[in-house]
Parts: sequence; structure tokens; C-alpha cells
Amino acid sequence: MTKPIWIKHAAQLATLASDVKGPRSKEAMSDLGIIEDGSLWIEDGIIQAVGTTKELEKHYSKRGDEAEIVNAMNHLVTPGLVDPHTHVVYGGSREHEFEMRLQGAAYMDIMNAGGGIHATTRMTREATEDELFEQTIRRLDSFLAHGVTTVEGKSGYGMNLETELKQLRVMKRLQEQHMIDIVPTFMGAHAVPPDFKEREDEFVDYLIRDMLPVIAEEKLAEFNDVFCEKGVYTPEQAERILEAGKHFGLIPKIHADEIESYGGAELAAKIGAISAEHLLKASEAGIQAMAKSGTIACLLPATALYLREQAAQGRKMIDEGVAVAISTDCNPGSSPTTSMPLVMNLACISMRLTPAESLTAATYNAACAINRQEQVGSLEVGKLADIVLWNTKSYQELQYLFGVNHVKSVWKKGVKVV
Ligand code: NIG
Ligand code: FE
Repeated sequence: MTKPIWIKHAAQLATLASDVKGPRSKEAMSDLGIIEDGSLWIEDGIIQAVGTTKELEKHYSKRGDEAEIVNAMNHLVTPGLVDPHTHVVYGGSREHEFEMRLQGAAYMDIMNAGGGIHATTRMTREATEDELFEQTIRRLDSFLAHGVTTVEGKSGYGMNLETELKQLRVMKRLQEQHMIDIVPTFMGAHAVPPDFKEREDEFVDYLIRDMLPVIAEEKLAEFNDVFCEKGVYTPEQAERILEAGKHFGLIPKIHADEIESYGGAELAAKIGAISAEHLLKASEAGIQAMAKSGTIACLLPATALYLREQAAQGRKMIDEGVAVAISTDCNPGSSPTTSMPLVMNLACISMRLTPAESLTAATYNAACAINRQEQVGSLEVGKLADIVLWNTKSYQELQYLFGVNHVKSVWKKGVKVV
């Protein structure tokens, strides 16, 4: 039995507790459920009580000696951050492409010339399962150090059954052996593999016939994602893949309207995808359709910055009633970062989210985007004790002081990991 943990004197305890269950939009994104001079009692990795320090003292003073007491010293306490979109399992590195892009090469041109996703696919195919496992551990440690206690992870650097399985099995091992929670997504249609060039439909057939059943049989993924983009997969092909995945119990997600407006947001709404990702070029009709269907917009402002593109219309989406989540998109090409705090800053700076909306997007709404809102994303009785103590006084200060990691301590399931 581990000792209970008693956190006291948080200047702001941002619980994110709310009556709004499920993805939040509009005003609901601004309600952080803040408790001033807040306190938490944690036992067996689960939050047992939430309230003011005074309230908890009434109930727990007699048990004070049993507990490890953490004095937050009037700093901010939030739920562990959730990153709902990463490509964290990959082989190799692509820093030379960074320089090529700075000299003017376009992301899609590099990919079409055999670099980009194809380059990482070659390096991931070559890597052993153990090598991928070791490399990914370093990135997951870095996520924890930045206050992230749950990440989604996508396959998609295999694009053949063998390597897709290898990536997903690495995620399974990481889930068992690393403190962070990693939620797996199958993304076999991340690009068109060179041997299927101009035979995209045949690759779609192959994916549906030979990949999906095996992934489902081995229970290696919960979600199914596809890169729906001009020159990659059409909305029709994406729909086939995602509908086929539904028969195997895989929940659809879509990389949509990243480089060009292509009907991805509309498709996400039509097929009831849990989220649509990127959306830099989402159309007005697509935004309206997502607001109606309740599809979460998973926005990636670090990717937009890194590709030197205009960020998605986060402000407008929230105002129109779309629930917004944010993510690093951690990948070796368009966003090699593990810093959710930076992504929160950028959500404010480049998409004009308010500091409160940005925190909701990185916690509760992010949890909704990977179906984990019952376990994480807010500090409520019965939820996992995934908690961050920050070096700032307030969430406003956290979002204002930009580009710096203000994490002081992180608990994952009640275990101090930072
Ligand atoms: O979400 N846009 C497609 N996929 C990734 C990038 C992958 C890569 O460049 O390796 C993304 O940004
Ligand atoms: Fe991505």
C-alpha cells in the first residue's frame, strides 16, 4: 500500500469539472472549475476528494499523519495534460528536411520526391521493435516532463502489415511498461506507399482486406485514421477505409484539410468521426457541419508554425460551436516537439483562444478526442490522479509566459514521475 497524497494550498486548483459532459464548446470551454486555495486527497492512484484546503482539513486532518503532504505554495494545479494526436513511434530523424524547407522546398514536394513520410517509413521498417521501443521511451519521458500524462499514438510509418503491426506492438509494450498512458490509433493510410503509386484504390483494398482484420483481431488499436488530402487519399477513399474500420469497432479520425481545402471536415461530420485533425483549410460548410455533428476539431498550431502556414481558425470554430482540442502532432517531419505547454501558448497566440479555452483544449476536450473523458482530463473524485503542479500562480500566467516549461511536479496515477 502506498501512502495517500494530500496536495494543499493550490492558488488555483483548475479542476475542469463541469456539468457539461462530453466535448465542450463556446462558453463551456471557459469554465475551468477553479477552486481557490484548493486541495486534493489521493489514494491508490485515484482522486478521493477535491475541495478547498479548509474543507479537506475538516475531513482529513485526523489522517494527516498517514499522508505525504505536498504544499503547492500558492501555485497552479491542473489535470495532467492530454495529447490526443501524435506519431510518436518512428525510426530515424529528418533534420535535413527542415533545412530544405527553410530554403523553400514544400512539405508535399519533399514527400512526393520520396522524402517526408516515405523517408520515415523506410527508417521505421528498418528499425527493430526494440530500437523503436527505446527511441519512443525517450520521447514519452519528455512528454511527462512537459506535464503530459496521456498521449494518443498513431501507426502509419509502416504502410505494410508487418511494420504497422510492429509500431502498434511497440505501443502495447509501452502501455504496459511506461508510466504514461498511450492510446493506439491505426493509420495504415498515412501516405500512398511507392509500390502502390497511382494504384491508391488497390492499396485501400489491401488495407481493408489484409490489415484491418489483423489489427482488430489482436486488439492493437482503438481508432482508425487516414490522411485525406489532395494527392494522398480522396474523401471517397478515406470514407471506405473509415467505414470498413467501423465494422471492426475502430472509431474514425481524419487528417483533414491540412494543405488544401478538400472536404475532409465535411466527411468527418458525415461519418461521425470522433475528431478531425489539422483543419488549416477547413471550409465554412465543413466548420458548420462539424459543429452540428459534434465532431471535435483537433488543432495543431505547432505544426502550422513549423510549416510556416497560417494556423487553423480556432477562434471561429469555438464561436461557431465546434469543440476544440489541441495537440503537439509530435512527428519527425512537421512537428518534432513534445511540448504541450508550447502548444497551449500557440493556441492563444496564433488561433486567439483565450488562456482558459486553451487549457480546456489540452485537458478535458483532448481526453474526449480519445474517449478517455471518464478517466482523465479533469480533477474529479474517482478519476485517475494525473496531476501537474506548475511553477506559475495562475493559468493566465501559464499561458502568458511563453515557450518555457513551467512544470514543477507531475503525478501519474498518484505516482510522482517528475
Ligand atoms: O499529421 N500530415 C500528415 N501526417 C503528419 C506528418 C507526418 C510526417 O511528416 O512524418 C502530420 O502532420
Ligand atoms: Fe498527424
